[in-house]
Amino acid sequence: MATQTKIVLDESELPTQWYNLLADLPVPPPPPLHPGTLQPVGPDDLAPLFPMELIGQEVSAEQYLDIPGAVLDVYKLWRPSPLYRAYRLEKALQTPARIYYKYEGVSPAGSHKPNTAVPQAYYNAQAGVRRLTTETGAGQWGTALAFACSQFGLDCEVWQVRASYDQKPYRRIMIETFGGKVYPSPSDRTEAGRAILAADPDSTGSLGIAISEAVEVAAKAPDTKYALGSVLNHVLMHQTIIGEEALIQLAKVDETPDLIVGCTGGGSNFAGLFFPFLREKLAGRISPVIRAVEPSACPSLTRGVYAYDFGDTAGMTPLIKMHTLGHDFIPDPIHAGGLRYHGMSPVISHLYEQGMIEAVAKPQRECFAAGVQFARTEGIVPAPEPTHALAAAIEEAVRCRESGEERVILTAMCGHGHLDLPAYEAYLSGTMTDRDLDAAALATAVEALPPVPVP
Ligand SMILES: Cc1ncc(COP(=O)(O)O)c(C=O)c1O
Repeated sequence: MATQTKIVLDESELPTQWYNLLADLPVPPPPPLHPGTLQPVGPDDLAPLFPMELIGQEVSAEQYLDIPGAVLDVYKLWRPSPLYRAYRLEKALQTPARIYYKYEGVSPAGSHKPNTAVPQAYYNAQAGVRRLTTETGAGQWGTALAFACSQFGLDCEVWQVRASYDQKPYRRIMIETFGGKVYPSPSDRTEAGRAILAADPDSTGSLGIAISEAVEVAAKAPDTKYALGSVLNHVLMHQTIIGEEALIQLAKVDETPDLIVGCTGGGSNFAGLFFPFLREKLAGRISPVIRAVEPSACPSLTRGVYAYDFGDTAGMTPLIKMHTLGHDFIPDPIHAGGLRYHGMSPVISHLYEQGMIEAVAKPQRECFAAGVQFARTEGIVPAPEPTHALAAAIEEAVRCRESGEERVILTAMCGHGHLDLPAYEAYLSGTMTDRDLDAAALATAVEALPPVPVP
């Protein structure tokens, strides 16, 4: 059994390939469709938004993809990231469970997001692109892309969801420090933003609206492409560096997880951790339960419908088969801004439909209670998003205390909350409220789903 608190890898042990789960899936997920023809989208449909290398990765059937040397060099600024054994949390919970967390807060942005921002900026720079546009919810993705663009000499423009722009001024300053430009979304700079503002001048925004704005600007400018921080296959694949490292780290202490738990907004941090473990499970070598955790205010997997829907609010993206609350749905402005997305990665949705993963939803106060307990025991103030994973990990550890089971729990600690302190203040002062999803609002949003005939 492990006695080490921090399991670290040498730079020479940094994995040099990303893993593509799609190559190993017994049943492939349904393809994205062109909204006009309702036929599967082809490379030409995506070319205005993404460079060809990333489009190729999106549809790749290769099991592994080599990570370019220039990307590995930037990764080495913070990777390999540490895996921790949460001894102090275990002790506080008086649990026989062994809790491990893979900590991505050591990156320049303070989260897992640079794992894909860096290769996306790299491939765009290679293709001669001058500027990237994007959205940001928590502010983490915008920070990550601004950092990545600074590494490869690209301009970066970020539409930050209004609720987050107001709650997190320091994220904006961090993006600007890395050289990016930030606009609150909805903004008056795009048709999509102006339409939303005309209907609701006080709109708190959503990731779906911010995506529409960033996509619109990229689609209109030949030297500009768009970068997405989650949801797409290539994004999830870039994140698998997390799980590949964690596999090596757990092997070093002779442990195999019984439960892997992570928060899901679009699904990228959790996919990054669990895809390599799912590969091992599909090969019959391990058998962990895999559990996604989402906010009760935005529960796409547990309360959404599995249907073709737009990835953005204005309906500019391809149609994606996913668990969705409807592209019109604007979640309550909860503090975990990165989890306020109406949809889910199509691969995660597919795995959920196939019964390969589980999902639960948690209200934000339970999550912040877990975050505070984690801070007071482990010394890290987590970002609001991974407190959802922590709440579920703690729930399992408490169950183990009652049953006496020595289960091994692995959780994705995908970012720190140093720029989310107003959220902690709201929790600590007792002003934070729980926001459950309103069934009537959900029904209305789901009615607006685009009609796609079942093949
Ligand atoms: C710290 C953090 N965790 C989680 C998420 C959710 O995204 P994903 O599910 O793609 O990891 C975000 C998104 O912005 C984030 O910033």
